[in-house]
Amino acid sequence: MQLTPTSDHRLALREPRVVAAVDGPDAADYADAADYVAHTATLRGVVRQRLVTRALVSHLPPAPARLLDVGGGNGVQALEFARRGYDVTICEPDPKMLAEAERRLTDAPEQVRRRVELVRGDGREAARLVGTGWDATFCHGVIMFVPEPAPLLNVLVEVTRPGGIISVVGKNGPALALRAGLQGRWRDTAMLLGEPGAARVPRAAGTLPSGAAGTLPTGDDPANVAAILTAAGTRSLAWYGIRTFTDHLGDLPPGPDVDAVVDAEWAAGTRDPYRGIARLIHHVHRRTG
Ligand SMILES: C[S@@+](CC[C@H](N)C(=O)[O-])C[C@H]1O[C@@H](n2cnc3c(N)ncnc32)[C@H](O)[C@@H]1O
Repeated sequence: MQLTPTSDHRLALREPRVVAAVDGPDAADYADAADYVAHTATLRGVVRQRLVTRALVSHLPPAPARLLDVGGGNGVQALEFARRGYDVTICEPDPKMLAEAERRLTDAPEQVRRRVELVRGDGREAARLVGTGWDATFCHGVIMFVPEPAPLLNVLVEVTRPGGIISVVGKNGPALALRAGLQGRWRDTAMLLGEPGAARVPRAAGTLPSGAAGTLPTGDDPANVAAILTAAGTRSLAWYGIRTFTDHLGDLPPGPDVDAVVDAEWAAGTRDPYRGIARLIHHVHRRTG
């Protein structure tokens, strides 16, 4: 594993950036790196990561190939694909997330660790930070943290080689009310459905202060995400829904039936109408030009 400092993005100590996705009272996704690490161990976290991996294995070129994980967080997918023989670079702005990724890698065998590189920086600067020509570029659960998705999505296409794969997971904007409704949070549900009289839902722009409960972030319209990627020079290979049945279960830990849950979620996430109401949408595109 290499931790790569760059001139303006060096890994020196600095006030960490706090990323937060607070989805309304009692339903926080996560408020900082430690929360996100805890979230990845919940049933919802496990379902999400396993479905992403399961979709990607059928689209990626065989290992070894060079993968870039923009906003790779604590390195769940990076480690998974390094174990499968890929060389993976994480480009991630949050030093706490990078530290978590580093910690996760310490437990991995040496030959796996050597395949992972950590670079600190904003994904929108990826071309300058990590260059172009990647065989596949991941950007999972990140576009909800930038004020506008297009600049980041355009960079993902730019840094991927022609014929390479772009994998994006975004929050399913048109279906956000489902979680609140299934949890019985009726005021939030009305707001997320845009009912007359309910307060307007602001877009979650970049960073929200931790504890901003009550602010309901919007997601992205999957059609818009696909259109931006297509306009940037890609074609869609497939799209999947992630968490149709389990999204409202809070921090429930995975149980002994986790494989059956993942199989059920996979079946739903690969077909209509279920995938259209999933919490997250996973887009897989191929760069054409
Ligand atoms: C929900 S976590 C997802 C982590 C990982 N991709 C995963 O799926 O497990 C969101 C990540 O996006 C990162 N992030 C936020 N804004 C970013 C940006 N502009 N460029 C790159 N990463 C960003 C955060 O620091 C955080 O690690």
